[in-house]
Amino acid sequence: MSLPSQTILVTGANKGIGFEICRQLAQLGHHVILSARSEERGRAAVGALAKEGLKVDFLQLDTADEASIQASVLDLKKRLKALNVLINNAAILDTWQGTILDATAAEIRNTFITNTLGPVLLVQALLPLLEAGRPARIINVSSQLGSVANMTDGWAGYGISKAALNAATRKLAEALQPRGISVNAASPGWVRTEMGGASAPLPVEKGAQNIIRLITDIPHSLTNHYLEANGEIPW
Ligand SMILES: NC(=O)c1ccc[n+]([C@@H]2O[C@H](COP(=O)([O-])OP(=O)(O)OC[C@H]3O[C@@H](n4cnc5c(N)ncnc54)[C@H](OP(=O)(O)O)[C@@H]3O)[C@@H](O)[C@H]2O)c1
Repeated sequence: MSLPSQTILVTGANKGIGFEICRQLAQLGHHVILSARSEERGRAAVGALAKEGLKVDFLQLDTADEASIQASVLDLKKRLKALNVLINNAAILDTWQGTILDATAAEIRNTFITNTLGPVLLVQALLPLLEAGRPARIINVSSQLGSVANMTDGWAGYGISKAALNAATRKLAEALQPRGISVNAASPGWVRTEMGGASAPLPVEKGAQNIIRLITDIPHSLTNHYLEANGEIPW
C-alpha cells in the first residue's frame, strides 16, 4: 500500500523496538519524532540514526511523569500542526518474575503508571494534534502477557499493566472512532532486546515490522483490535 508521508511520534524510542521502529519509518520517508525520557540517551539515538543518513526529530518525554507529558505536548504543539500516528511503545517490566502473591506495591504501581496511565494521558494531551492529523492512528504496543484470556502467573505488574492497556485501547477506540482516529493494541512478538532477553526468537527488526505493519498494511477503518504478526490475540 503506498502511503503519503506521515508524522509519527514514538515513545520510549532511544533503544530496543522503539528505536528500530523509528529507523524503519525514517527509511520509508516518514517524519519521525523519536522520544525518550532521557535527553542524553534520546539525542544519542537521534545521532546514531543521523550517522546512517536518517533524519528524525527529538522530543524529551517521560511517560511516567504527568508534568513531562504536558510539557512535551506543549513543546510539540509549537513544532507541529498535526500528528498522524502515535505509537505508545515505552514500557517497563517488573524487576523480577515472581508470582502475584509476592508482587510489591511499588512494582504494580510503577508498571501501571508507565505502561498504562502514561499512554492514556498522552492520548488526552495529544488529541488536538491527532484530530488535526485525521485519519489518525494510535498504536498501543502491548504483549501476549496482557491477554486476560491467556493470562498466567509471573510478571504480575507487567501483565496487569498490559491487560489494563488493552482495556484502555478498547475504551479509546470507542471514544475516538467518531473523531476519525483508530486505536489498536499490537504485540511485537518475543523480541531480542534488553526487555525480551537473549533467548527471544525474533530479531528487533522483525519486532519493529510487526508494529509498523499496522500503519502500512492495515486499513485505517480497522480499530479496536489486538493484533500480532499472525492475526488476532484474544483479549
Ligand atoms: N521485547 C519483547 O520481547 C517484547 C514482547 C512483547 C511486548 N514488548 C513491548 O514492546 C515495547 C518495547 O519493548 P523493548 O523490548 O524495546 O524494551 P526495552 O529494550 O527495554 O526498551 C524500552 C524503552 O522504553 C523506554 N522507557 C521506559 N520507561 C519510560 C518512561 N517512563 N518514559 C519514556 N520511556 C520509557 C526505555 O527508556 P530507557 O532507556 O530510558 O530505560 C526504552 O527506550 C514495550 O511496550 C514492551 O512492553 C516487548
